[in-house]
Amino acid sequence: MTDPGAELHPDIEDVVLSSERIQARLAELGQRIDRDYGGREVLMVGVLKGAFVLMADLARAVTVPVEFDFMAVSSYGSATQTSGVVRIIKDLDLDIAGRHVLVVEDIVDSGLTLNYLLRNLRARGPASLEVFALLSKPDQIRVELPIRYHGFAVPNVFVVGYGLDYAERYRNLPYVGTLRESVYADA
Ligand code: IMP
Repeated sequence: MTDPGAELHPDIEDVVLSSERIQARLAELGQRIDRDYGGREVLMVGVLKGAFVLMADLARAVTVPVEFDFMAVSSYGSATQTSGVVRIIKDLDLDIAGRHVLVVEDIVDSGLTLNYLLRNLRARGPASLEVFALLSKPDQIRVELPIRYHGFAVPNVFVVGYGLDYAERYRNLPYVGTLRESVYADA
């Protein structure tokens, strides 16, 4: 069987983060999570859809006891920009009161989505509430956010892969990359 990540997808212009770099960073951050939580049970809350790939890898990079839940949100706005108005499409199955919650987000762009989510989750009375964000775009951030575990800062360009999509495609690429201009032109 051939490795689907072995060849660059024809729509990808540049690889911003290779699969190897992502996995190495996850191993480091996983160890930090293990140290920080020191045996306390963590409830990882993945923000769908983008975080599903990250959650699967992060889950296997930690050894602390961990449970998983997911939320799905949709932000009103154009295809590549959020408006800050967030709607919960799927809420958590679990009650987070008294639990150690770690929100797992693929990318923080303006920060508005996460800001909304954190306010919403804080009101439910978790014992602690921390954020894991694999990527951020520091030039774009509009609200101050307490990101405890941070993977990489990326330039202010639209990126796909490793859970991130453009029009629901490219989420399964094992790396993070930019799209060729022609992809947008054809859309
Ligand atoms: P924010 O509310 O502006 O921080 O936007 C966060 C959400 O926008 C992320 O969870 C992604 O779903 C989406 N997003 C932001 N930037 C990108 C990108 O470069 N590629 C793909 N999705 C992105």
